[in-house]
Amino acid sequence: MPRPDLRPDPATFEPIERASRDELAALQLDRLRATLHHAYANVPHYRRRFEEAGIHPDDLRDLSDLARFPFTTKDDLRATYPFGLFAVPRSEVLRLHASSGTTGRPVVVGYTRRDLDTWAGLVARSLRAAGARPGMMLHNAYGYGLFTGGLGLHAGAERLGLTVVPISGGMTERQVQLIGDFAPDIITVTPSYMLAILDEFRRQGRDPRASSLKVGVFGAEPWSEAMRAEIEDAFDLYALDIYGLSEVMGPGVAIECIDAREGLTLWEDHFYPEIIDPDTGAPLPEGSRGELVLTSLTKEAFPVIRYRTRDLTRLLPPLNRPMRRIERILGRSDDMIILRGVNVFPSQIEDVLLAVPYLSGHYQIELSREGRLDHMTLHVEAAAEAWAGLDPAVSAREVVHHIKSTIGITTRVTLHPPGSLQRSTGKAQRVIDRRPKA
Ligand code: DLL
Repeated sequence: MPRPDLRPDPATFEPIERASRDELAALQLDRLRATLHHAYANVPHYRRRFEEAGIHPDDLRDLSDLARFPFTTKDDLRATYPFGLFAVPRSEVLRLHASSGTTGRPVVVGYTRRDLDTWAGLVARSLRAAGARPGMMLHNAYGYGLFTGGLGLHAGAERLGLTVVPISGGMTERQVQLIGDFAPDIITVTPSYMLAILDEFRRQGRDPRASSLKVGVFGAEPWSEAMRAEIEDAFDLYALDIYGLSEVMGPGVAIECIDAREGLTLWEDHFYPEIIDPDTGAPLPEGSRGELVLTSLTKEAFPVIRYRTRDLTRLLPPLNRPMRRIERILGRSDDMIILRGVNVFPSQIEDVLLAVPYLSGHYQIELSREGRLDHMTLHVEAAAEAWAGLDPAVSAREVVHHIKSTIGITTRVTLHPPGSLQRSTGKAQRVIDRRPKA
C-alpha cells in the first residue's frame, strides 16, 4: 500500500513561512539588533567580550556585520556555570535544562515564559512540516528530564493539538505494547533507540509494517541515509530528521519537511546561521561544508551570540519556505576520527555497514593503540534472520573489504550474534576510545 500523502496544506503555514526572502531578512536584522543589545546590556560576559573585540551592538548595520562579533563556545558556557550567561533575573526563568555532556560540568540553559512559548511554537511548526495534524497521536520516546528532547517535543505536540503519549525512553517492551494498543500516528525518538524498538516488535512477533506509525521524527544524534532506509522499510513510515541543541533551544531548530526532504529547513526567523572553517573560524562561502554557528534572534533568558555548535554541515538554498536549509549533520568536529591520516565520521561508517544486508543497525566503533599505531575495531551485529547462515569469519572479512573499498581505511571487524551489542534508550554511544589519553 502506498504511504498516505501527509504534505501540509500551505494554507496552514504561519505568515513567515510564506514571506519573501527580503521580508525574512528584514525581520532577522531587527531581531538580531535587539538580541545584541539585550546580551550587551544584561550579560556581563557578552559586554566584556564585545568590548575586547572593539565592537558595539550599534555597529550592526546589516546582517553581514554579525561576523565582526566574537564567537561563544561551550567553554564560555562551562566557565559561567550555572547561570552566568542568563540575561534575565533567575526569578523570571521558568524552566532549566542541561546538556547531556558526559564529561565536566554540564551546560545549563534557561527559558522565560516567552521562550517556552516560542519553543513550543517552533516544535509545533516543525511537527506540522513533518506531516503532523491536529488530532493525530504522538508517541514521545525522547527522554523526559534535563534533556530537552522529551519536554521539548511534548510542549510542541500539545501546541499543535496532538494527543501526546509521554512515555519517555526505556521499558522497550511497554513501548511496543502501547504502540499496539494506542495506535499513534507519529513517533519521536532517537534513531538508535528506534532500532531497539524494532527488535522488540520482532521479539514479540508483531509485524512492524502493520503498526499504526506513519511518521518518525528522529534526531538528537547523527544518523545516516542508510539508517533512514532501514527504518522506513522496516516500519513503512516516513523517517524525518530533526535537529537542535540545548544551548540554542532544544529540538526544533531545524526539521526535514515531509514535502521537501532534501536537507532540514532551519527556522531562520529565530536562529541566524553561519558556516565557518572549524580550524580557523573564518566564515566560509555559502554552500561550503563547515561548522554551523548559530545566533538566537528571539531568546530572552539565554541569548546566544555566534554559538559554535561543532556540528558539521552546509547551508542549502531555500526550497518551499523562505528559510535556508542545512544538510544532514555529518557529525561533530570533535567526533571526527583520524585513522592513520584519514578523517572519518561514525555516520560514514554507519552508511557502509547498513548497506550490508546481513548486518543489523547496531554497531560500535572501538579505537585502540598498539605501539604507535591506532586501530579501529568495528563491532557489528548480525541481523537476526541472517545469523544462522553466516560464517562469522568470512562475513567479517567481507565487511573489512567493504569499508576499505568505500572509505579507504583498514579496520578490524568482529561480528556479534543478534541482540548482543548494547542498546541505547537515548543517544547511542558509537565510539569507545581506549587509546591512552595524551
Ligand atoms: O539533542 C536536542 C534534540 C532533542 C534534538 C531531540 C533533536 C531531537 P543536546 O542534548 O544538547 O540537544 O545535543 C545537541 O546533538 O549539537 C548535535 O551534535 C546532536 N544532534 C542533535 N540533533 C541531531 C541530528 C538535543 N538531527 C547535539 N543529527 C547537537 C545529528 C544531532 N546530530
